[in-house]
Amino acid sequence: MISLENLGFKQGIIFETLVSTYTKQGHQNIAPMGVIKVNPKKIMIKIYKSSNTYKNIKSKKCAVVNLSSDPALFYKAAIKEANIGNKIVGDLFEKGDLVDAPRLKEAEANIEVSFLSSTDIDSEKTEIILEVKKIKTTSCLPKGYCRAFSATIEAIILATRIKSYLIGNQLQQKQAYEMIKKVRCFKEIIKHTAPKSEYADIISDLIRRIEIWKINK
Ligand SMILES: Cc1cc2nc3c(=O)[nH]c(=O)nc-3n(C[C@H](O)[C@H](O)[C@H](O)COP(=O)(O)O)c2cc1C
Repeated sequence: MISLENLGFKQGIIFETLVSTYTKQGHQNIAPMGVIKVNPKKIMIKIYKSSNTYKNIKSKKCAVVNLSSDPALFYKAAIKEANIGNKIVGDLFEKGDLVDAPRLKEAEANIEVSFLSSTDIDSEKTEIILEVKKIKTTSCLPKGYCRAFSATIEAIILATRIKSYLIGNQLQQKQAYEMIKKVRCFKEIIKHTAPKSEYADIISDLIRRIEIWKINK
């Protein structure tokens, strides 16, 4: 039986995942979430109580933690406005085997979890503990390390903050421009290592969006 350890989870390290849940009405939702292993059967997420993921976990008492190295999927899950026409839908999901939550079919691993407890960190965030019910993996082969992959993921993560920081206070606006500089550095890595690729398409689209955010701020 596959364990969290087999998937690379180690105590004290945050793993970036895509967490999928059903709303009360049965619509699927997916969002990037950082997951930490607590013990071989338990994981923890520090989660915003305002997020749909948290609300869905509270109502359905479960979720699926998906491990995926598909940059386009990560892009659409992280930058919801890039998910034009809600392309992360129907066909990509099926119901988990043991939980009432959707699993991402093409993920390299699905970790089906049930809600155990939550402890508030402050008024906005809470720490939820989830119990591992089942782990499903695909038999995909190891992948070579690609700098463009990491650069794309880091650029997307920065972009999730840039939009709101551009319309924030003076300090945040300054930080937004620093982050935009970093995104441009990541673009150079992608241009150098994977010029005609899905990574190049994503970074171009991201930079185009950032330019629009700058104009509309
Ligand atoms: C790489 C990455 C990791 C994230 N980790 C968390 C997290 O651990 N907890 C959290 O509440 N939000 C996290 N977020 C932010 C949520 O994904 C974001 O708030 C999202 O809009 C929530 O979507 P939802 O309302 O559909 O749940 C993360 C975002 C990114 C890009």
